[in-house]
Amino acid sequence: MKKNINDFSSMAKNKEKIVYLTAYDYLTAKYQEKAGVDMILVGDSLGMVTLGYDTTFPVTMEDMISHCKAVRRGAPNTFIVGDMPFMSYQTSDELAIANAGRFIKEAGSDCVKLEVAGPGTCRRIKAIVDAGILVMGHIGLTPQFMGILGGYKAQGKTAEAAKKLVDLALSIEEAGAFSLLVEGVPAVVGKAIQEALSIPVLGIGAGSYTDGQLLIYADMVGLYDNFTPKFVKKYAEIGAEMERAFREYCEEVRSGAFPDDTIHAYKISAEEAAKIEQ
Ligand code: KIV
Repeated sequence: MKKNINDFSSMAKNKEKIVYLTAYDYLTAKYQEKAGVDMILVGDSLGMVTLGYDTTFPVTMEDMISHCKAVRRGAPNTFIVGDMPFMSYQTSDELAIANAGRFIKEAGSDCVKLEVAGPGTCRRIKAIVDAGILVMGHIGLTPQFMGILGGYKAQGKTAEAAKKLVDLALSIEEAGAFSLLVEGVPAVVGKAIQEALSIPVLGIGAGSYTDGQLLIYADMVGLYDNFTPKFVKKYAEIGAEMERAFREYCEEVRSGAFPDDTIHAYKISAEEAAKIEQ
């Protein structure tokens, strides 16, 4: 059965970890639901993982809606988080509410996630929540603010920076977010944020103290090899296995070993075959 915000809140209170993975397509979502994943993020990491961009910046609302729909078809009974892409919420409350609404109405998401740089984005969260839409905040290493952060690097590495993150996390909770995702911070900072908040805190590269863990699925199955962050554990080498299979297919097609008509071809009666030969 699909979990909801009450389930996530009880899980966090009972110290039962929330399992969270990204997915961008029907098949991946289907296998994740079968495996018992609690929550799926259709992240704007779609840009790198599936669309081949270098950053998340070019990802559009249309890209996100289309991929969220596919994930929903693959995982009808899993809580789905739709990631608001760059410039889909930054300019005004009206734009943010309209685009958050599309994730719910058109894409079948259960909530939206927003990367938060400061108090301005907290106001945006409040506006979306006031419109009746669940919001997950996202702080720390927020790729959409890569320029301001000075690159793709861990955040909260001094006591002062960590304190700022805790304060920002509290403002996000106050703005009405039902949960918070913390990315790319030392474990002790993940712990401080988890202890300061009463909403579930999920982590990606934020240590083991958070209420749940997220990974980009393509990293943890060894499919995305352009760059692997330090915090990723690989549970499979699917990319290498796919390459091996594609190579073997190339060899067999070229040599004529595939297809073998005794196995990989439609059968008809000998009589019909003889007539066709004639
Ligand atoms: O887009 C995404 O997958 C994300 C994660 C990196 C947290 O936002």
